[in-house]
Amino acid sequence: MGSDYTTNRDFTRSLQLRGKAEKFIVGGGQPHKRSNPPDPVIIDYGKGCHIWDADGNEYIDYLMAYGPVLLGYAYPRVMEAVTEQIKRGNIFNVGHPLEIELAEKLVELIPSAERVTYFVGGSDATTGAVKLARAYTNRDKVVRSGYHGWHDWCHSEAGALKATAQNTLSMEYNDLVSLSDLFKENKDEIACVIMEPTGYQLPEEGYLEDVKSLCHENNTLLIFDEVKTGFRYSLGGAQEYFGITPDMSVFSKAMANGFGIAAVVGKKEIMDEVAGVWVAATFHGEVSMVAAALATIAEMEEKDGITYLWDQGEKLLNGYREITERLNIDFARIEGAGSMPFFGFNGGDDKKDRIIDIFYKKTLDDGLYLPRGHIWFVSLSHRDEDIARTLEISESALKYAKQKV
Ligand SMILES: Cc1ncc(COP(=O)(O)O)c(C=O)c1O
Repeated sequence: MGSDYTTNRDFTRSLQLRGKAEKFIVGGGQPHKRSNPPDPVIIDYGKGCHIWDADGNEYIDYLMAYGPVLLGYAYPRVMEAVTEQIKRGNIFNVGHPLEIELAEKLVELIPSAERVTYFVGGSDATTGAVKLARAYTNRDKVVRSGYHGWHDWCHSEAGALKATAQNTLSMEYNDLVSLSDLFKENKDEIACVIMEPTGYQLPEEGYLEDVKSLCHENNTLLIFDEVKTGFRYSLGGAQEYFGITPDMSVFSKAMANGFGIAAVVGKKEIMDEVAGVWVAATFHGEVSMVAAALATIAEMEEKDGITYLWDQGEKLLNGYREITERLNIDFARIEGAGSMPFFGFNGGDDKKDRIIDIFYKKTLDDGLYLPRGHIWFVSLSHRDEDIARTLEISESALKYAKQKV
C-alpha cells in the first residue's frame, strides 16, 4: 500500500545521527527505541510534556519514555534532589538514610507494603518478585497476565531458555475460568500469579477479588505488577484504587519521574521469611534515584497529582469520544482510564487502514507524539492547553484523512 501522506518535517540531523548510531550501537539503538521518519528518530531534549527531536521538531508527548515521566521532563524539583545527592556520593557500601525514608513512605502509601526491597528497573524487579515467591512457596510454576519485561521466565523470544519459560503459564485477563483451569491442571505447583491489575481493559466487577480468593485457596501468592499503574492510578497503585491488596507488588516506572529505580513490596510474614534469598545487585538502591523518588512522591502529594492526572486523562478520553461520535468514526478504540488513557483504532480493511495511517502521520506532523499500539501516559505537565491542542489537531487530522480516502 502506497502512503497517502508525505511528512513536511525535516529529519536530516536525526538521520545523520542514526547513521552513526548504526556503527556503534547494536541495531542502531535499543529495540524499543528504533524508528523511522515521520516518527521522531533521535530526541534531543524534553521539557514538561514536550519533546524536541534532533532537527528541532517539537511534539506534545503521550508516551513519556514509556511511562516513567510522571511529573514532566526535566522537572526542577526532581533535578535538584538528584543533583544535591550526587554531590554527596551516589552509591555506598552499606545502607543510607534516604533509602530508609523512602521505604517508610512506600509502606505508608501502598496497601500491600509492609516491607520493601529495591531494584533497578521493571524486569529486574518482576524477576526478583517471582524468585521470592518461588522461595516462599517452594514451587516452580508461575501464572502471568500482562507484560513483565524481557527476562527468560516471562518471554519466549529468540535466546530465551525454553526450559525456564515452560514453568510460566498464561491466563486471560478478566477470565477467571482460564485461571481456575490452570490451578486444576497444575495442582500444588503454582508459586504465584503475577498480573497487571489493569491496562487497556478495566477489571470486571469482582474479578480481582476472585483472582485473590482463587490464589489463596491454592496457597499461591498474588503479585500485582504495578510497574505501569503504580503512582498513576493512585499513589498506592491500582491496588489502592480498586481496593484489592495482593501479597506482593512491583513498582517502578513512575516512581522517580524517569530515574531508574524499582521496588518489590510485600506483607511482612512473607518478606521476612525470604529475607535471606539472594536478590542483590550493585546498583540496587542507588541513592540519587532514591532521592528522585522521594522528590517525585512529595510533589505528587503536595500538588494532589493523582486528581490532576485523572482529570487530564478523562478530558482526553471524553474529548475523543465526542470527536469520533461527531465525525462518525465507528472504528475508534477509546480505552484505559485516568493517566493511562488510550485512543486508537480497529483497522482491518483497506479504507480504514489508510485513514489510520494518514491520522498518525498528520498528527505527528502537526506536533503530537501519540503512542500507536501502546497505552498512553499523561503527566503533571499536560496542561489544559496541551489537551485542547491535542484534541484540535486530532480532529483536524481525522477530518483530513476521511476526506483524502
Ligand atoms: C507492567 C510492566 N512490568 C514490567 C515491565 C518491565 O520493565 P522494564 O522495561 O523497566 O524492565 C514493564 C515495562 O514496560 C511493564 O509495563
